[in-house]
Amino acid sequence: PPTPEFIAGLPKAELHLHLEGTLEPELKLQLAARNGIELDQKSVEEVRATYEFDSLASFLAVYYPAMNVLQTERDFYDLAHAYLQRAAAEGVRHAEMFFDPQAHTSRGVPFEAVVTGYHRATVDARDSLGISSALILCFLRDHSAESAAETLEASVPFRDLIVGVGLDSDERDNPPSKFAESFARARELGYRLTMHCDIDQVGSIENIRQVLEDIGVDRIDHGTNVVEDPRLVDAVRERGLGLTCCPVSNSFVTDDMKATEIVDLLRQGVKVTVNSDDPAYFGAYVAGNYEALAAKAGLSRDDVVQLARNSFEASWLDDADKARYL
Ligand code: HPA
Ligand code: ZN
Repeated sequence: PPTPEFIAGLPKAELHLHLEGTLEPELKLQLAARNGIELDQKSVEEVRATYEFDSLASFLAVYYPAMNVLQTERDFYDLAHAYLQRAAAEGVRHAEMFFDPQAHTSRGVPFEAVVTGYHRATVDARDSLGISSALILCFLRDHSAESAAETLEASVPFRDLIVGVGLDSDERDNPPSKFAESFARARELGYRLTMHCDIDQVGSIENIRQVLEDIGVDRIDHGTNVVEDPRLVDAVRERGLGLTCCPVSNSFVTDDMKATEIVDLLRQGVKVTVNSDDPAYFGAYVAGNYEALAAKAGLSRDDVVQLARNSFEASWLDDADKARYL
């Protein structure tokens, strides 16, 4: 079986990581102090005690309020820098990182502070840590389609700093079709497209059908319940689409790592990948997710090597950069 040393030493790409989900209790307290924000919690233990949930909705109810401490360009820089440092130490060579501009602009934080702070961290990390990284703007699917459209237009001056557009937050009653117009516009702007099709949501197989047949995505986030429909599995495999799976996150949100489904798809030749989602909240960064899945599913070294290869193949690196890892 693959040891933690073997997993950490394996070059990996992380493709499903919410920057706001990397806010560790220590940094939350520091940023609150720096920004003069009064928190109800005074210690790391007290903050950690609030990082408690058993469903997507109860997770999101903790996740958004915690972001109030993020105010300035420097705060966003510090958050992304801390993640990239940690990821590089676990063998991540490339990261494609989600961020939620509406969770900040809706509090009065300028779009520019968010994107320039995060971007500056990607530039510094490339120079000082040797890790490449890119930003994916996510629409919050429980906000309106109009708000998504406005957010997309706000991104245009920063087009070169953003590789793609995604869709996250509460999936219930918020299908991909709600955002069809903004995704079409995003594609015109040259963005890559991906969407969360979460695993515990009623009707999510219909959402997977929509992203494949109606929207035309370049990747699917989570998406493991595609196994329910062999026709859709064939479509995913034939198009070479990556699925960005997050086993430890799954185990929190649904009580099930979905190891059976992930391994089933791996054996069927689908480009499944392993990722951490919101590591500060779920208690495992990417290496911990590989370890948890390997232990649960009895994976071999060859299996984890294949998962790591998939992570580069499913990435949005250009072919020359991919070739360095494959
Ligand atoms: N699903 C939906 N929204 C999210 C997630 C997730 O896993 N993480 C952060 N926002
Ligand atoms: Zn996610």
